[in-house]
Amino acid sequence: MKDSIRHLIQQALTRLTADGVLPEGLSPAIQVENTKDKTHGDFASNIAMMLAKPAGMKPRDLAEKLIAALPADADISKVEIAGPGFLNFYQNTEALAARLDALLADAKLGVRKNGPAQRVVVDLSAPNLAKEMHVGHLRSTIIGDGVARVLEFLGDEVIRQNHVGDWGTQFGMLLAYMQENPEAAESELADLEGFYRAAKKRFDDSAEFAERARELVVQLQAGDAECLRLWHRFNDISLSHCQALYDRLGVRLSMADVKGESAYNDDLANVVADLKAKGLLSESDGARCVFMEQFKNAEDNPLPLIVQKAGGGYLYATTDLAATRYRANVLKADRALYFVDQRQALHFQMVFTAARLAGFVPASMQLEHMGFGTMNGADGRPFKTRDGGTVKLVDLLDEAEERAYTLVKGKNPELDEAELRQIARAVGIGAVK
Ligand code: ARG
Repeated sequence: MKDSIRHLIQQALTRLTADGVLPEGLSPAIQVENTKDKTHGDFASNIAMMLAKPAGMKPRDLAEKLIAALPADADISKVEIAGPGFLNFYQNTEALAARLDALLADAKLGVRKNGPAQRVVVDLSAPNLAKEMHVGHLRSTIIGDGVARVLEFLGDEVIRQNHVGDWGTQFGMLLAYMQENPEAAESELADLEGFYRAAKKRFDDSAEFAERARELVVQLQAGDAECLRLWHRFNDISLSHCQALYDRLGVRLSMADVKGESAYNDDLANVVADLKAKGLLSESDGARCVFMEQFKNAEDNPLPLIVQKAGGGYLYATTDLAATRYRANVLKADRALYFVDQRQALHFQMVFTAARLAGFVPASMQLEHMGFGTMNGADGRPFKTRDGGTVKLVDLLDEAEERAYTLVKGKNPELDEAELRQIARAVGIGAVK
């Protein structure tokens, strides 16, 4: 409305200049503001007061001439002069209502995408399966799901990718604990967080256990059948915890969207070999790295993107490089959006730049890190429990529903239990989202 009113005023000024009422060469910045008191119209402009002096007229006289020169517009019902010479515009509510009614008849509410439909990978949620989902995974999950839905609404083809952390050294410790006491492990796995703590305690307390954990990682990576069986068992349970949370949050994610770090294992050696073939690989203290001139530290020394440790192990960046080319070549994505907190900004800039230099993705493919801040506690640091642990997402959701329940019951004691629970769920989960 403001833009179109500015445009109307501009036309009136042009007309008055042509008629010789206003001198040539005026090009004022036309200001249009929302009125505070709607009984005096919806928008106001001080243009007549601004131009009165150069025009050699009283503001109210100029205002009158401006009103006479304004082109008719269906969205404006009337224009009045107020106070020392303000122009007050009243919007035509019927015309606006009719316009909104017409939009409601359109399934897309009149919203259209600017540009052609794309295939978009949305990388979201991505918890580490060794532990339970915590409050820190909320934003990646909720914002990612929200944006995925918006893009779908606009006609894009969205491919959700849950890049879960299902690989790495912690798994050796967990497998060793499962192996040590299979029965207890089965029941303890219901509480993954407790299971992780118990395994960690054994790991810290017993050198012999720690040694076994390290051997199991090696065996797992070598594809040992028994290790793989335990690993699958653990991940199935952990993923079912995640799925229960997604369902409870109304987040559109399923097991079919899971494409974890382990899914790229077979390509990691190729990634390193291909980087080498492109002349992008350097050795630094035995580790294999990519140095890019864009990335330097404060002392102007190049920063490494480490893709293989001295011992031969691959890293987070190697997996992400493999994922970029999977998304480009297999998923044929035009665009990939990564919903990961802002602390990983440098990691993604480096991975995206390396992927382009190596030709892993076509130049036309958009790679974007959609960073966001962390969920902080009162101390301004990432939210922790009093004893320094993370808050489990399941506990947070329980508490949100419980608090909503207490509030609703206090206000509407006559509601029956089932209805109370239903409202508490909608309010509690809705508030967290
Ligand atoms: N699992 C990782 C973490 O918890 C997030 C993964 C995000 N996605 C990615 N492609 N790196 O920090």
